[in-house]
Amino acid sequence: EELMIPALDRAVYFGDGCYEALYLVNGVLFALEEHLDRFYNSCRLLKLPFHLTREELKAELQKVVDQTDPDFAGLLYWQASRGTYYRGHAFPPADVKPNLLMFVRPCPLDPFHKRLKLISLEDTRFLHCNIKTLNLLPSVMANQEAHARGCDEAVLHRGSRVTEGSHSNILILQGGTLRTAPTDELILPGITRKHLLELAQENGIPTSEQPFTMVELMNADEIIVSSSGTLCAPVGEIDGIPVGGKDPENLDKLQKAYEHKFLVETKQI
Ligand code: PDD
Repeated sequence: EELMIPALDRAVYFGDGCYEALYLVNGVLFALEEHLDRFYNSCRLLKLPFHLTREELKAELQKVVDQTDPDFAGLLYWQASRGTYYRGHAFPPADVKPNLLMFVRPCPLDPFHKRLKLISLEDTRFLHCNIKTLNLLPSVMANQEAHARGCDEAVLHRGSRVTEGSHSNILILQGGTLRTAPTDELILPGITRKHLLELAQENGIPTSEQPFTMVELMNADEIIVSSSGTLCAPVGEIDGIPVGGKDPENLDKLQKAYEHKFLVETKQI
């Protein structure tokens, strides 16, 4: 309530910037280095001249962490905009510095065992989904539609091809293989998605990053929603039709491996 945002911040009228959201628990920012890598990559792709070095940005993030209670668990969000200047589509003059905004929000981790309900929607987003930009209106509309229909998330598809969730990645277990869409311009290269692929390989589960269809999704042995706020949540229903639940062993293996990685890296065990 006390934060002041300049009215002419380019994020206000263009959504001209990028962001990251990561889990903070036990005073540890989970997978911080990977989030920093993706943030600087988003800045590069947007030609956003972010002025803080990695170490300087880490020090700013640490200031926020230091102000949270020791038992805080939730998401730390930060965004960089292309600075404050009169509205004009071309970039502002070179001496205009990006603005950095950060906050935390309590958010209990979804229990691993809860099976989510999804709806499916045509993916009407643009072709820059690999950049974590502030332009999220189609995702907002899709997620709201899911909530209005009493569901947790929307799975998006372009034609028959499954892309990702409105704010998550989608993976399936099919015939013992963990499958997910490739990291092209149609999806965000999710960090949780990457962790799940790595953990699958470490645990003897083959992986595939090839596109799959809505029909394959509906018939998959298991369907997984992954994001920094949900980690590895199984799906039980899409558009009111029961789905998944046919490979609980491999699902359990992945969830246990992820839980272990999370607890170790956040110094909880
Ligand atoms: N969303 N795809 C989209 C479109 C997302 O917005 C997100 C994350 C993901 C998962 O990425 P990761 O595993 O790195 O969190 C995939 C964040 C949590 C958000 O917007 O709040």
